[in-house]
Amino acid sequence: MGHVDHGKTTLLDKIRGTAIVSGEAGAITQHIGATEVPIDVIVDKLGDPRLRDRFMVPGLLFIDTPGHHAFTTLRSRGGALADLAIVVVDINEGFKPQTFESLQILKRFKTPFVVVANKIDRIGGWVPQKNMPFAATFKKQSGDVQARLETKLYEVVGELYNQGFAAERYDRVTNFQNTLGVVPVSAFTGEGVPDVLMVLLGLAQRFLEANLQYSATGPGVGTVLEVKEEKGLGPTLDIILYDGTLKKGDTVVIGSLGEPLQTKVRALLKPRELSEIRYESKFQQVNKITAAAGVKISAPGLEGALAGAPIRVATEETLEEIVAQVKSEIDEVRIDTDSVGILIKADTLGSLEALVHEFKKDEVPIRKAEVGDISHRDAVEASTVEDPLYSVLIGFNVKVHPDAREFLQESNVKLLTSDVIYRLVEDYQKYVKEQKE
Ligand code: GTP
Ligand code: MG
Repeated sequence: MGHVDHGKTTLLDKIRGTAIVSGEAGAITQHIGATEVPIDVIVDKLGDPRLRDRFMVPGLLFIDTPGHHAFTTLRSRGGALADLAIVVVDINEGFKPQTFESLQILKRFKTPFVVVANKIDRIGGWVPQKNMPFAATFKKQSGDVQARLETKLYEVVGELYNQGFAAERYDRVTNFQNTLGVVPVSAFTGEGVPDVLMVLLGLAQRFLEANLQYSATGPGVGTVLEVKEEKGLGPTLDIILYDGTLKKGDTVVIGSLGEPLQTKVRALLKPRELSEIRYESKFQQVNKITAAAGVKISAPGLEGALAGAPIRVATEETLEEIVAQVKSEIDEVRIDTDSVGILIKADTLGSLEALVHEFKKDEVPIRKAEVGDISHRDAVEASTVEDPLYSVLIGFNVKVHPDAREFLQESNVKLLTSDVIYRLVEDYQKYVKEQKE
């Protein structure tokens, strides 16, 4: 997670790339929206084979989230889909809106994470030492450069402190239970990347051991990452399966705005080895996948599926129960609506949930909260609310239809849109203050 251009994808590429360089190409598996790195490859990178026995995790499945796309989509049963997170921040630019947003989400979900202070190679005078662990490359830098890094690093630590997190350069942390580790890295040169892997494994071991149980044989359970139109296939779903098995021909139940969708999986598609799905038009069909994994699903009737919604495999016997379960998972996000209150529209279930949470925390009444663009009907509905404090339309990462925009220009409705959740909350507070004055 992290702000746009701070280096999330480059870091993941480096993790993947260095593993290939070290001759383990076949071992890294490319998924839809995710990359699987087996434990052996990671341990190999750490350079000490004795570490192998210390780790119970079979490997790590990395999910890359684009900066403009809220991590909140990655939800499962009201929590975060991810067990661990990496927050990437450009050490030279420092904290940006989406860095703050990432931290808020992680705090709310209580997800353990590590902070990567990226782009250390851009620090004036830095002499790159390709793929070296941080301590080794740091030692090779001049005193001036070292001091510059420390200054910038402690600006990051200070920002974290302001957000309520005790943090420290990771190799100075004595207790990861109460202190966040910050790893100085260059995703570009690979410096510090082994350290990130080490800290991640440490966190996995410490925080997840009790929860590291999933069923490989049970019915598949996953989360919809994205609903995507594919040439020749129509709408498809990119999903992350986090439990059980999903097979071609399985009946699946998927969350949507109305009744859950029921359909049969026509094809399970994986990107070809080591190529990113985004740049890949050709897929490979597989008959079955087992958690944790990412896959693209082609099936009839996927229109209306929601990003962030659950997807569950059902059998004839369990169908009714599974439909009810999926429906209740979606309804959890819905809210007890007040007749007088603001209207919220968001791009995904996860972002909607996060917004509702933030506004409820401030005791702002909500008349309607829905996934989707701002339509003429929404605009009209907002205009029927007489109290100007609540005659407000909030849009997160959504479009405003032209007819809605036209209507809004003539009305007293306040329209607030942004792709940063906390900015919407702030803008609303500011608006309320202005109204009261
Ligand atoms: P979004 O997906 O758009 O949110 O961005 P991102 O966080 O994935 O950033 P990305 O990895 O695409 O990197 C953005 C730019 O920064 C690219 O031009 C990278 O080459 C560059 N970059 C990333 N990491 C480093 C680094 O460690 N050092 C330097 N010098 N450049 C970097
Ligand atoms: Mg990216």
